[in-house]
Formats: sequence, C-alpha cells, structure tokens
Amino acid sequence: MPELKIAPSILASDFSRLGEEIGAAIAAGADLIHVDVMDGHFTPNITIGPPVVSALRQHSSVPMDVHLMITNPEDYVEDFANAGADIITFHVEAAIHPHRLIDRIKQLGCRAGIVLNPGTSHDTIEYLVDYVDMVLLMTVNPGFGGQKFIPEMIRKIQSVRAMLGDRDLQVDGGIDAETAPAVIQAGANVLVAGSYVFGSPSYLDAIESLRAEQPDQATT
Ligand code: DX5
Ligand code: ZN
Repeated sequence: MPELKIAPSILASDFSRLGEEIGAAIAAGADLIHVDVMDGHFTPNITIGPPVVSALRQHSSVPMDVHLMITNPEDYVEDFANAGADIITFHVEAAIHPHRLIDRIKQLGCRAGIVLNPGTSHDTIEYLVDYVDMVLLMTVNPGFGGQKFIPEMIRKIQSVRAMLGDRDLQVDGGIDAETAPAVIQAGANVLVAGSYVFGSPSYLDAIESLRAEQPDQATT
C-alpha cells in the first residue's frame, strides 16, 4: 500500500483568507492542497479558476492537487498547469478523449489523474488505468462540501485498488475520522477532507485523526 497522504480541500476554508488557510493546513501536516474547480455546468456550483491557483501557489510548499469538475477539461488544463498545478485530475464523464488528455497533462509537466462520479462503474477506466498516476473516486456527488459519504463506494475502492497496484488512489467527499478507517482498509491512500479539517478547531488534531487508522500502524 502506498504512503497515506492527507489532502485538505480548500472549498471548506475561509475564502477571504485563503493564503493563511493553506499555510495553516500545511503547518498542521497536509501532504497536498486539494483545489476544487467547478464550472456551473458539470456541477451545480461555481468555485475558482486558474488566477486563484496561481495566487495560492506561492503560499504552498506542498503539491497543488487540482480537481477539475468542469466540462471540456481539455480546454483548461494548460491554464491550470501554467498556474502551478502539480496534479490535475479530470472526470471521465466529462472527457471525450481521455487518453489524449492524460498525455497532454503529462506533457505539461503535471501528474495526471482520472475521477469517477459515484454512479460511474470502475469498468469505465479499465483501458485507462495503466496510463494514470492516480485515480480519484468520488465518495459523494460532486458539487458541494459537507455531504454524506456513500457507503457503496467501499466496494469500488476495493475494485480500483486491485486495478492500480501501488499507485495513488484518492477518495473525496464525506471523509472524516469515522469514514477514514474504512476507506483506508479498502485501499484508498490519499484522503481529501474539506469540512472535517477546516471545520475543526484544530487542523492538526483533525489531520492526525485521519492518519490514526493506518492499517500498518494498527498492526505494529
Ligand atoms: C465535492 C468536492 C470535495 C469537497 C469535499 O464536490 O470535490 O473536494 O470539498 O468536501 P467534504 O470533505 O466536506 O465532503
Ligand atoms: Zn475534490
């Protein structure tokens, strides 16, 4: 199992103090900063774009993990790469030529990942999985923070871990100290957490509680 990483999602942070919020999350042990990009088409919500990623890049000493929840992702990957994204993930539901887009993201110098909505079967990525650095499984329907984890996703995590070998498997949505042990046990190793981290009085305690149930630690 690859290393466990915690990726706080800035969607739940105080947008009037984004730079400080990122600094605080990193000081508390964040391994990545997860940036949720929504366009009001693929998702019912609109968030932020490349200029904000660019402004935040200088506040981040850890990789910026940009989750594109947008239609026509191929039109925007270059802008996000130029803005300083280190990892770019896009939804299989939104990409017409996903192989081509994975290649493009890598050519731009970023790590490439594909994302599946809760209702999309893992079979969809059978012929893509060998080309990606990471798979992100949505454990809620994309659009908003603070939604409830969908328990059926545990089976999908297990199936995708079997396809991925030791590459990164990220989960996103409804992750907290209660759901983290089950997703880690099923094979997820990159945990996105928005409201759980940024809604906690101590980001440090929140991040440490997500790491507490690592299977390796439990057995030693
Ligand atoms: C949902 C986003 C998530 C969201 C997670 O559309 O992709 O990254 O911020 O929020 P929580 O952790 O609050 O479920
Ligand atoms: Zn996300």
